[in-house]
Amino acid sequence: MKHFNLIQGFRAKRYTLSCVAAVLLAFSGCAPRPQTQSQPEAAKRGAVADKAMVVSAHPDASNIGLEILRKGGNAYDAAIATQFALAVCYPVAGNIGGGGFLVYRHHTGETGALDFREKAPAGAHRDMYLDEDGNVIPNLSLLGHLAAGVPGSVDGMLKIHEKMGSLPFAELVQPSIDLARRGVVLTEREARMLNNARKEMIDHNKHTPYLTRQQPWQAGDTLYHLDLARTLERIRDKGRDGFYAGETADLIVKEMQRGGGLISHQDLKDYNAVWRTPIKGQYKDFTITSMSPPSSGGIALMQLLTMVEPYDLKSYGWQQPQTIQLMTEAKRRVYADRATYLGDPDFYKVPTAGLLDRTYLKERMQDVSLEQATASSAVKAGELPVYESDQTTHFSIVDQFGNAASITTTINGNYGSMVVVEGAGFLLNNEMDDFSAKPGVPNMFGLIGGEANSVQPGKRMLSAMTPTIVEKDGKLFMVVGTPGGSTIITSVFQTILNVVEHDMTMQEAVAAPRFHHQWLPDEIQHEPDAISPEVRQALESKGYKLTQRRKYGAVEGILVLPNGKLEGGADPRGDDVAVGF
Ligand code: DON
Repeated sequence: MKHFNLIQGFRAKRYTLSCVAAVLLAFSGCAPRPQTQSQPEAAKRGAVADKAMVVSAHPDASNIGLEILRKGGNAYDAAIATQFALAVCYPVAGNIGGGGFLVYRHHTGETGALDFREKAPAGAHRDMYLDEDGNVIPNLSLLGHLAAGVPGSVDGMLKIHEKMGSLPFAELVQPSIDLARRGVVLTEREARMLNNARKEMIDHNKHTPYLTRQQPWQAGDTLYHLDLARTLERIRDKGRDGFYAGETADLIVKEMQRGGGLISHQDLKDYNAVWRTPIKGQYKDFTITSMSPPSSGGIALMQLLTMVEPYDLKSYGWQQPQTIQLMTEAKRRVYADRATYLGDPDFYKVPTAGLLDRTYLKERMQDVSLEQATASSAVKAGELPVYESDQTTHFSIVDQFGNAASITTTINGNYGSMVVVEGAGFLLNNEMDDFSAKPGVPNMFGLIGGEANSVQPGKRMLSAMTPTIVEKDGKLFMVVGTPGGSTIITSVFQTILNVVEHDMTMQEAVAAPRFHHQWLPDEIQHEPDAISPEVRQALESKGYKLTQRRKYGAVEGILVLPNGKLEGGADPRGDDVAVGF
């Protein structure tokens, strides 16, 4: 079996060059920032607020969320407004054509989770991305109409509103409609990303998508989203029927027919976001609440934390050989389990209890040696104890009432499938690539999978998204999450440890350089400056392979400080902004 390096060898080479380059370029530009912004990279503390805070990937979205809180809306109102705003000002990942997950903690202490992940259309089938010889057809699950799953974001926002919203839904959508008509001023970074995506957008649309134009976009240009404004108005006025029926549904289905896609009126009608029981676990004094399947995030994060808990990471020190070794050995084993055992719980019996069993996780770490790296080829998914019974963006919000919302939302790659629904002004996701197109063949993120995550009609593709809430002594402590495909889980893992073991502020914790291991390929992938030359040498002498990659992820965190104030950590890798009052 050939394993793929995240940077060097995705299955979809052509896609990788533009899409991943765009993600990476995303982290090199700078946007004008409002006064309440979080501090630059070197800052020790992020933005501090007395009562309420929004941290997202775009200043316009953070400010729209904050406005809703100022009007007296709660964290869930602000989350809905921020999600719609990101669909306008951050089209690379913000969306109404994708899906995501919410993890929340009510001020009463009640926690919960909403799954608004996309689903495979009814016409999808197991081998839809294979040629006659059974080989994966490059790019088919990544670009164009067949890459799109049935979008879940709009139903997700409506479900959140129905259960927990306090302001009228129309008031939460309106700021995004106004923004779409007023136009969004492009930063240098956004202009570059759109220019990078231009060719693929033109290739994968029968019309000329409004996100492209003849001459290159430049910083300072205004991008108007007029069709999207009309789509958002239909959602504002008709709710579910403004997207899953009527004109928007007609436009989506027409788009599918033009491009040979599968999403039908019936698929749209059948789509339903689902309330799920989140994954809950304990790490020392901290209670972790994170996303359950169809995301692997919560289970994997809890496995990682439980596996390193017995070790004194604090005394080993941040980014020191033993700390990196232990975290890496845990990651290797966790991603091997992920590839075998995780999938949509509505289709596949996920052995959650076994995967989180403390004795099992302890045994998984028993063959770890600090003298020598384990080879991934020697690691398989574990034998579980038997039980009776199972380009993305993140934003974190805490309101003045003590409610917390943690949402990671995605259209998967940058600009998703590149398909813009003609007349409706939004991009469709390419989430179908998160299925395992063929057992053992890596997807865009180098992740492999098997039967648990095979394509089936109506099934949700496995995710790594890890929107998370941490409590200490029964009180809200941290709200955190990030984009980054397969690296999401390990970035959240590291950010939590940075704060609770290495005494970092929220801002330091999100800014700190990260490293990643996902079982296969068998290498530690690290950001520049994440690992000193001495530590590298120590790790290499023990058999670890290290590969430097460019910066990844965009962690957005909120930390409750001992004095009760809130610290926002906005990732300096992007234009991310924390605002509060
Ligand atoms: O659900 C998942 O795990 C992926 N579709 C997330 C994609 C992602 O984070 C891309 N962003 N950089």
